Amino acid sequence: MLEVDDVHTYYEHSHILHGVTLRAQAGAVTAILGRNGVGKTTLIRSIIGFTPPRRGTIRFGGEPIQRLPSYEISRRGVGLVPQGRRIFPSLTVAENLEIGGAARRAGGPWTRDEVYRLFPRLRDRSGHYGGQLSGGEQQMLAIGRALMSNPSLLLMDEPSEGLAPLIVRELAATLAELKKTGLAIVLVEQNIALALSLADTAYIISKGRVVFDGDPERIRTDEEVRTRHLGV
Ligand SMILES: Nc1ncnc2c1ncn2[C@@H]1O[C@H](COP(=O)(O)OP(=O)(O)O)[C@@H](O)[C@H]1O
Ligand SMILES: [Mg+2]
Repeated sequence: MLEVDDVHTYYEHSHILHGVTLRAQAGAVTAILGRNGVGKTTLIRSIIGFTPPRRGTIRFGGEPIQRLPSYEISRRGVGLVPQGRRIFPSLTVAENLEIGGAARRAGGPWTRDEVYRLFPRLRDRSGHYGGQLSGGEQQMLAIGRALMSNPSLLLMDEPSEGLAPLIVRELAATLAELKKTGLAIVLVEQNIALALSLADTAYIISKGRVVFDGDPERIRTDEEVRTRHLGV
């Protein structure tokens, strides 16, 4: 479904991604792990078109997308839950969701009511401003906002960051539920246990390069892989 081939991405003169190649399959969770600053967010930005790669190709559903503007990539079915959530603090929950649905794809299952069914807490708080929500509620809103566009692939950049352990468990349950609907997920995480509990395939990035790809079970069982590439 998503094919990233030999992608090189820069910020001005800083060469961040050095030939990243990866695959994300339909209906599967693909975990992307790696220490801070190795280029995970840059990879997400490359896929969604915020920082297009200077070299390499990115295909979605077989079509090259690496030269398309982000709104067009989104329109084709790639949703984004950005790192740090980035909800609109001075808009209400309902308004944040409306913005997410502004360019929605036709025929998909997600409406405001469906998002409220997944996250009843958001229905209770629909008139509250984004800035008044707890971290966990803001994360629900960021996910709900992305779902409103009816994506077939959801890119999630560190969704568990800054959340209390109990809330992380709720997040894990939500992601498992979304996976069951057939939604493909690319999950960038520092919480390795969370990522490995959901992932069908895992990649580890180090200094802008893929240094491991394959069975998530191997990361769980191979201490050498964990200490060398993840520092845990
Ligand atoms: N807008 C930017 N301009 C210049 N350098 C950046 C920018 N954003 C990130 N970087 C640098 O790119 C590298 C990778 O960052 P990032 O992709 O955010 O890593 P990660 O998400 O894995 O923590 C880091 O060295 C970071 O300092
Ligand atoms: Mg990041």
